[in-house]
Amino acid sequence: MAVLVTGGAGYIGSHTAVALHDAGRQVVVLDDLSNSSPAAVDALRSLTRPDLPFVEADAADVDSVGRTLADHRVDEVVHFAAFKSVSGSISDPEGYHRNNVGCTAGVVAAMRAHGVSRLVFSSSCTVYGEPNHVPVTEASPIGATNPYGATKIACEELLAAEADVGGLDVLLLRYFNPVGSHPSGDLGEDPQGVPDNLVPYLMQVAVGRQERLAVFGGDYDTPDGSAIRDYLHVMDLAEGHVAALNALADGDGPTGCTAVNLGTGTGYSVLDVVAAASRVIGQPVPHEVVGRRAGDIERIWADPALAIDLLGWRATRSLDEMLVDHWRWQQRHPNGYEA
Ligand SMILES: NC(=O)c1ccc[n+]([C@@H]2O[C@H](COP(=O)([O-])OP(=O)(O)OC[C@H]3O[C@@H](n4cnc5c(N)ncnc54)[C@H](O)[C@@H]3O)[C@@H](O)[C@H]2O)c1
Repeated sequence: MAVLVTGGAGYIGSHTAVALHDAGRQVVVLDDLSNSSPAAVDALRSLTRPDLPFVEADAADVDSVGRTLADHRVDEVVHFAAFKSVSGSISDPEGYHRNNVGCTAGVVAAMRAHGVSRLVFSSSCTVYGEPNHVPVTEASPIGATNPYGATKIACEELLAAEADVGGLDVLLLRYFNPVGSHPSGDLGEDPQGVPDNLVPYLMQVAVGRQERLAVFGGDYDTPDGSAIRDYLHVMDLAEGHVAALNALADGDGPTGCTAVNLGTGTGYSVLDVVAAASRVIGQPVPHEVVGRRAGDIERIWADPALAIDLLGWRATRSLDEMLVDHWRWQQRHPNGYEA
């Protein structure tokens, strides 16, 4: 039997595919390469097996997903495939809704048609909107501050409703902010176009691909005025998916639809990260504090207690390890996979 990883050529999906392979699972990747590349698949194969099955297809296409489930005898799915840029979602809300909700609907329809019942879904702490209390628990109020967050809420609602009618056991993993790379330096984050997230942008400044980092907002009500997030190492996050699938496969594990935070429980400000990265890189990262960015919030970090309790998982890697590993990848691949 095998696990299908949709969006497995992307940043978190490729790292998770390696962690699943290392944990002894047969992995099948499906991706339309809309935000990744064949070179990312090659890198993934170099760390797993040269013949790791890869299907280039749209996750919203029920027939393609269904064929993949049948051809590879899939009995569990990790569904990453989605668009993820907050600013992209503000300029194209309809496209984001169509792709993100459409992929989730397509995957669920194919799973139902083929009797596959265990699903781990990539959700996000963005479903908590601007929290009125930190750390956030899974019971904290839900509400999006941007169309991307709204797509995650819509997918969570769809999956909860599907689980209610039976036949589907789902873990909604609400990720905080993944950073870092595989320790080999051979697998990393290579977004198409200009990065939307802090660390990939910062690393591109450090290798000269971008001129200077814009720190969005210096007037938040935080100790240094910049926004605070809960950064976690992408390999910790990848291992969280292995733990989630193990929990679903366990006869005493969670059934129905359950949301779980995957974060460290510690918040760092944007300026903390810039200072730590400058130390790791060995030179100051040129940056400038500018106005706030639409869709951003002031502060958020996780209460990770449920993940520890339900999945037996906790993040173990430090902010410095995240930045050291991300920097190793960026130095080895200054222009990304294809260069
Ligand atoms: N990176 C983050 O900070 C973060 C935080 C919380 C949640 N998430 C979620 O985690 C998941 C993975 O994020 P990522 O950072 O790896 O992004 P990514 O863009 O690197 O990976 C997503 C992958 O999905 C693929 N894809 C998109 N639409 C598709 C479609 N219709 N059919 C098939 N493949 C499709 C892309 O080509 C890409 O390879 C996404 O669902 C994202 O919303 C990411």
